[in-house]
Amino acid sequence: MKYYNNIIETIGNTPLVRLNKVNESDALVLAKVETFNPGHSIKDRMALKMIEDAEKDGRLNPGGTIIEGTSGNTGMGLALTAIQKGYKCIFVLPDKQSKEKMDILRAVGAQVEICPTNVDPDDPRSYYSVSKRLADEIPNSWYVNQYDNPSNSVAHYESTGPEIWEQTDGRITHLVVGVGTGGTISGTAKYLKEQNPNIKVWGIDAYGSVFKKYHETGEFDKNEIYSYTTEGIGEDILPANVDFSIIDKFEKVTDKNGAIMARRLAREEGIMVGYSAGSAVAGINQLKENLTKEDVVVVIFHDHGTRYVGKLFNDDWMKEQGFM
Ligand SMILES: Cc1ncc(COP(=O)(O)O)c(C=O)c1O
Repeated sequence: MKYYNNIIETIGNTPLVRLNKVNESDALVLAKVETFNPGHSIKDRMALKMIEDAEKDGRLNPGGTIIEGTSGNTGMGLALTAIQKGYKCIFVLPDKQSKEKMDILRAVGAQVEICPTNVDPDDPRSYYSVSKRLADEIPNSWYVNQYDNPSNSVAHYESTGPEIWEQTDGRITHLVVGVGTGGTISGTAKYLKEQNPNIKVWGIDAYGSVFKKYHETGEFDKNEIYSYTTEGIGEDILPANVDFSIIDKFEKVTDKNGAIMARRLAREEGIMVGYSAGSAVAGINQLKENLTKEDVVVVIFHDHGTRYVGKLFNDDWMKEQGFM
């Protein structure tokens, strides 16, 4: 018989799929489709790793409560692992996140707390502050902090990077990744650049985020910050998990272009994935002059499109945003 002992053993080993219709460049563009993970996102990988590392060094103890400020996908990964291991979960979400993401977390047994999006990170109402306060107040709890938790990028160094190297037979020339906490891009790029330092690493950023300007000038410019509809990428802080030295270039993609490309991926490729996947492919097309037919581009598709059915896959929402 061939079976897994529990659902978390199915994490990883996701397929690479060629993009045939939406790619405007001359390169071979391959999508690492992370929706095949049991929580339907890449975050399952780092959630498992963060929990296992916290168990090993005693930050997380039997019967404990896992607390995290999460836009949804990390919460799902943490919840699936917590179910297997007997932990409780409390997740704190900014109110711009889709209702589907909140309901999905409740469906897997988590308590969900909602905070305002448009407040400073150090405001006591922000989801960063509320997560920290709950962790101080609740006994036997552990604040995960995916932004600064090194296990986040190590998970990708140990799994995502080696998988891509093996699946492309070492022929990858470019890695393209939407950047949020930075765990995916930093860990995956570190492994790949150790195999071949010539691989180019492009980070996809949102308008309203600080990353691109910080990378180019070293300046953390608060004037770059405003709220935007793209989900999962861009930040108003500099997470420890973003290794700016390993990223060759940041490209910003508008909310509109990311949403339109996510819809095209569903309709033209049959790959129903989230907002940041749309942004990443739109970013590759923006940079197509830098690519030749010899190049092999791997782009990460972080999460599943079902989480956006009330948003970018909804025509009324698209019209309200002025995207259609
Ligand atoms: C949908 C989606 N895309 C991209 C990212 C960015 O990944 P990372 O946090 O590893 O930089 C996230 C992270 O929250 C996400 O949820």
